[in-house]
Amino acid sequence: MSEVMQQGPAAVGVFDSGLGGLSVLHHIRAELPAHALLYFADSAYAPYGPKSEAEIIARSLTIVDFLLAQGAQALVVACNTATVAAIKAIRQAHPHLPVVGVEPGLKPAAAASHSKKVGVLATAATLAGEKFKLLQQQVAQFYQVEFFLQAGHGLVELVEQGELDSPRLRQLLHAWLAPMAAQGVDTLVLGCTHYPFLRPALGQVMDAAGWQMQMVDTGAAIARQLQRVLQQHGLDAQTALPAATLRGYTSGAKGHLQEALQTLLGWQAQVEAARI
Ligand code: DGL
Repeated sequence: MSEVMQQGPAAVGVFDSGLGGLSVLHHIRAELPAHALLYFADSAYAPYGPKSEAEIIARSLTIVDFLLAQGAQALVVACNTATVAAIKAIRQAHPHLPVVGVEPGLKPAAAASHSKKVGVLATAATLAGEKFKLLQQQVAQFYQVEFFLQAGHGLVELVEQGELDSPRLRQLLHAWLAPMAAQGVDTLVLGCTHYPFLRPALGQVMDAAGWQMQMVDTGAAIARQLQRVLQQHGLDAQTALPAATLRGYTSGAKGHLQEALQTLLGWQAQVEAARI
């Protein structure tokens, strides 16, 4: 029988296909300030959405190995697409590693919807995954809601380019939201971790069109889930400690992640380019 050894606070590795996971990292930092955080942006390989499951699994396993080599003791897959495609393979490869994944917030959205019509904006790969289909079925049945799914083609690319407010972006958002609005959707799931950075633009598009939709993302819930998992493994911080370090790694250009940390989160952090 194994005994839980108190060792915390653990260093937590967090990764995404690019910058999207920063929307989750922001909540993790707020919830777990004493934990060292290692963030990997796979920007050279973004977006994951159009990639095959095999490719996403291969990238994910390579990144996890890299983060473990940098000292990560727990992992957050801060990408819906990678969670759907690769979390099983990650858990199989690292059975003792605490791993938290993300999934579109269908349950909180279904619970909050008055019209019982919920829109889900996510990548094509997330929407096509078996894991997602199962969740959709269960939640639709339990809450008696109808889901309207829309792949957010082009949105990840614009966020990666730092384009968070432009006519081109608003046009795309309008196109993806209009069919949902026509169906009476009152709650919108932001089912990709890049999308919380589009909240202001989404709000503008909705206001301009006269659509009323509340937006749901799961960043805060993931940070709380991570805290519970760390506690179960004896890897949490028992006492208040000074804020720990954050290190960024990217398969893309170092300056790109450094700038994103600054503009999206207001953080200055050490960033290294990782050729993996
Ligand atoms: N942030 C990723 C997600 O949550 C985006 C995936 C992609 O690169 O297409 O799904």
